Amino acid sequence: MWRELQPIGRHPGSGGYRRFAWTGADRDCRDWFEEQARTRGLTYELDRNGNQWAWLGDPAAGDAVVTGSHLDSVPDGGAFDGPLGVVSSFAALDELRSRNAEFAKPLAIVNFGDEEGARFGLACVGSRLAAGELTVEAARQLRDGDGVSLPQAMEAAGHDPDAIGADPERLARIGAFVELHVEQGRALDLSGDRVGIASAIWPHGRWRFDFRGEANHAGTTRLVDRRDPMLSYAETVLAARREAALAGAVATFGKIAVEPNGVNAIPSLVRGWLDSRAADQATLDTVVSGIEKAAREYADEHGVQLDVVRESFTPVVEFEHALRDEIARILGREKEADLKVPVLGTGAGHDAGILSGSIPTAMLFVRNPTGVSHSPAEYAAEDDCVAGVTALADVLEGLACT
Ligand code: GLV
Ligand code: MN
Ligand code: MN
Repeated sequence: MWRELQPIGRHPGSGGYRRFAWTGADRDCRDWFEEQARTRGLTYELDRNGNQWAWLGDPAAGDAVVTGSHLDSVPDGGAFDGPLGVVSSFAALDELRSRNAEFAKPLAIVNFGDEEGARFGLACVGSRLAAGELTVEAARQLRDGDGVSLPQAMEAAGHDPDAIGADPERLARIGAFVELHVEQGRALDLSGDRVGIASAIWPHGRWRFDFRGEANHAGTTRLVDRRDPMLSYAETVLAARREAALAGAVATFGKIAVEPNGVNAIPSLVRGWLDSRAADQATLDTVVSGIEKAAREYADEHGVQLDVVRESFTPVVEFEHALRDEIARILGREKEADLKVPVLGTGAGHDAGILSGSIPTAMLFVRNPTGVSHSPAEYAAEDDCVAGVTALADVLEGLACT
């Protein structure tokens, strides 16, 4: 499976993946998923929101156990964020079949569409739409950097955009959703464990800061006459770092657009996107309002106009304790009695977090020796990946089999 996925959307220069929603690379990943489903004799479904499902057993029977993740990527993403969960799901099913497991409940493997939000700016579009956490009206407004709307992109990829929307009947079929994911941190490396269980996801969001100044000649405009939005933006980046450090949170300006973007022109517009996350809502609010306050002061200083728009927000997720404890029990059985499977919080967003408001969800993390993620350097060792598959197979067997 890895060999087949390896070249899809891989940039020859960076070695990273560019698998953005509804592009050719995304289509190739989707074709691969459908092929994996069909070669295993699973029932393949593409839902109204572009999520793919592969069913073993009757989808309508209810109380299904579902596993999976996503196949799209951030710009120059690593090989594992998303695909590790999907590949491990198919491998875990193969493992259960080789154990001659008897399924008492339907099992499904899912590939959620547009998890990273790299193209349209909003993460987890497929699961948010299904859960009714993103309205159809708001989804229709989403546009990529070239002005292509989400419905236009869907239509160009052969998917009916008029069908999108909340899908409660589909979610009602599911009794538990377990997402396996590469760890995006070093907790397992430090504790010496191959696999962990998720406890919670930090609240997180994305804010767009538009600094508008005055375009002018870089050679002839005196410094005192400038209204340069780049200066207020640069100072705001430093303020973000300061506020986050003070609060024990994180804040990142990782994407920027500059107009007119000429080397010899003072910019008229600098648009920067802030991603900020914290362990609790009050801390996150403090960090973001601190950054915004500083940004306004810097903007005023330079005669620049500032608009701040919150583009997305995901509240704190505490994964369901009953399912988490059940998984810990299943995995604990495989270990010495006094060895517990580590339970970890994370600052990364996931479809399992979005769906946790609608159905019981849980996550397994697989050790990442450097903790690096959202980068071509993201890595998980082969035997840790195998341990992840075994753990997932044990969990699915415990939840779905007699
Ligand atoms: C998704 O990976 C996110 O946390 O941004
Ligand atoms: Mn990611
Ligand atoms: Mn992911």
